[in-house]
Amino acid sequence: MQERFRYKTRDELLERVHSLGLEMPFDDDISPLFYPASLNGFNIPNRFVVQPMEGYDSEKDGSPSGLTKRRYIRYATGNSGILWYEAVAVSPDGRSNPRQLWININNVKNFAVLNEEVRKSAAIDQISPLLVVQLTHSGRYSKPEGKSKPVVAGLNAILDKEPPYILSDDDLKKIQDQYLVAAKSVFKSGFDAIDLKACHGYLIIDLLAARSRRNSIYGGEDYSKRFRFLLETIDRIKSEVPGIIVTTRLNISDLYEGGFGVNRFGEIDYTEPLLLIEELKSRGIKLINLSMGSPYYNPHVTRPYDNPLPGQKVPGEHPLEGVMKMINGTSLFQKKFPEIYFVGSAYSYLRQFIPNVGASVIKNGGASFIGLGRSSFAYPSLPHDLFKDGKADPSKVCITCSGCTRLIRNLRPGGCVIRDREIYGNELKKLIADGE
Ligand SMILES: Cc1cc2nc3c(=O)[nH]c(=O)nc-3n(C[C@H](O)[C@H](O)[C@H](O)COP(=O)(O)O)c2cc1C
Ligand code: SF4
Repeated sequence: MQERFRYKTRDELLERVHSLGLEMPFDDDISPLFYPASLNGFNIPNRFVVQPMEGYDSEKDGSPSGLTKRRYIRYATGNSGILWYEAVAVSPDGRSNPRQLWININNVKNFAVLNEEVRKSAAIDQISPLLVVQLTHSGRYSKPEGKSKPVVAGLNAILDKEPPYILSDDDLKKIQDQYLVAAKSVFKSGFDAIDLKACHGYLIIDLLAARSRRNSIYGGEDYSKRFRFLLETIDRIKSEVPGIIVTTRLNISDLYEGGFGVNRFGEIDYTEPLLLIEELKSRGIKLINLSMGSPYYNPHVTRPYDNPLPGQKVPGEHPLEGVMKMINGTSLFQKKFPEIYFVGSAYSYLRQFIPNVGASVIKNGGASFIGLGRSSFAYPSLPHDLFKDGKADPSKVCITCSGCTRLIRNLRPGGCVIRDREIYGNELKKLIADGE
């Protein structure tokens, strides 16, 4: 059942949580959020992560634009310990939109300049964040020229209205080579880590779920074939780009039939995601960002909200149930693999209570980092304010209105229409005036 967030005090929130039959970690002591963490020789100053958030604002050649730079400088001065850069395409064909960032040998320098400025801005407060970049191929959701041009690992009756192009093994080998070329550019441009995006319906999670694929080394009923593309790409990056940390943002459950991490009814089944984490662990992967669902099929799962997009179906689930599904799922993985740092997702619905819930999650070993997506668009200085004042400012929080999603769905630059109104409120006005 959909319900707007209307809780002004801790007691009001926790009462509603209990009345839904849920239990939510909550602590007044937020100090665990400021525990440092050490990863492969890097000292990460706190437990906040700016989650990857696509801004649809690159230059034509895929380079960061002035608007992109503005977003990342805001994150850098906000003092999060990890800045996890948004989905960056490995090839022009794999772009989710014509203005998705795309890293290539001709624009490495522009990414390097951005990273230098980001590091300089963070250093003003003596913060040295870990810079992770998410590499992606958009697969079923590719729109390189603004129109859908889906390519898939395997057919899915729920997701595919028209039969899409099924990538051959040779196509996939070429795409893997593109990941390698991009990884070398990432290293040259000064990032600390590469995330091979395996979530939200894009190509690698599609491969992990590709049971319907036939006569292929990259799919079929055997899960080890479905894991192969991701693991092989990791192995190649580790051997051909030594010195860069490798990680993944992984869906632990797609929550639809034919997806990854589900049984045949589309319900959560962590059997294969747990096997995959074993494989990642054996490759020395120490940082993994967890997510669930698909923004195209079940957006309330991946980002619990107050308002759906115009015309979108209202979900049957309460947003607090969505938040707890992600917290409990992450906790299960964190407790099974305590040697890995897991980043938890989908906290923005909790607004000014994010620090209390996040701190309790960290303290109880339910995650190692608290990832903030929409909240980072709306309130990038949350970690800075908490460090300085000890509390979040309710007038700056994300109100989960879906305005930023509406912008990017219509191929407009993405940002917060409420708290960053001058730029993105105006973008929304233009979009409405254009009748979109
Ligand atoms: C506008 C927008 C862009 C996003 N872009 C990405 C992305 O590039 N990569 C990714 O893994 N997730 C992306 N996400 C998902 C977020 O990282 C995050 O998982 C989601 O918003 C839920 O977290 P939250 O409750 O803190 O917002 C995006 C979400 C939104 C709303
Ligand atoms: S537009 Fe702003 S307030 Fe609305 S969901 Fe996006 S970040 Fe949150």
